[in-house]
Amino acid sequence: MRLLYRLLEHPRVYEAFQRLLAPGAGQALARELGEIKREVTGGSLALDVGCGPHSHLWQVGLRPIGVDISVDYTHAFAQQGARSVVASADALPFRDASVDSAWTIGLLHHLPDADARQAVQEMVRSTRPGGDVVVFDGLLPDSIWRNPYVWLQRKLDRGRYMRSRGVLESLLTSQATWRFRRVSYSLVGHEGLICVLRKAGSTA
Ligand SMILES: C[S@@+](CC[C@H](N)C(=O)[O-])C[C@H]1O[C@@H](n2cnc3c(N)ncnc32)[C@H](O)[C@@H]1O
Repeated sequence: MRLLYRLLEHPRVYEAFQRLLAPGAGQALARELGEIKREVTGGSLALDVGCGPHSHLWQVGLRPIGVDISVDYTHAFAQQGARSVVASADALPFRDASVDSAWTIGLLHHLPDADARQAVQEMVRSTRPGGDVVVFDGLLPDSIWRNPYVWLQRKLDRGRYMRSRGVLESLLTSQATWRFRRVSYSLVGHEGLICVLRKAGSTA
């Protein structure tokens, strides 16, 4: 398993595996994220936290700054003409209220609870009042029998913290009002949760 995880650090291997293990996920996610983008307020300065080698947000017309802990992934991201920064999600190198929106797609299951909570707080902190924070993560099926293929794949994921919906929701800042949408996003039944927060305060 360790060898496989090492191979996945290579951007091309990572992308090929994504296509193989979750067929149709790219298009389905783009559709879902496109709908969310229509709901969120304007402004083009966006973050993609835990961006990997490419951003799903490119498919919905956003040009986010990519943030990732992996030097190889941020390098691959930048080679495609986009700005990227090597940083950890729990200590974002951006000033308070300095971006219009902060998105994260498939990051939280790589982080233990305390770091995941801190990462979400960092996204909220970096977003301007009236801007939006969008969190998407995969969900562990409620039982192995619901979808044995996806259950097993989730259990073997590099990210050791794949969560049920209830646990994922519990990581989000409790004082804030999040909107949730559970989505099925691959041809083999991967499910995920989209969580959207409009940050309180004036947009002026
Ligand atoms: C499952 S991948 C998702 C990548 C991309 N968002 C996508 O949907 O294809 C998780 C990403 O989170 C990054 N990551 C893991 N821990 C991180 C951390 N503490 N801070 C920032 N990025 C992190 C990994 O390097 C990896 O690129």
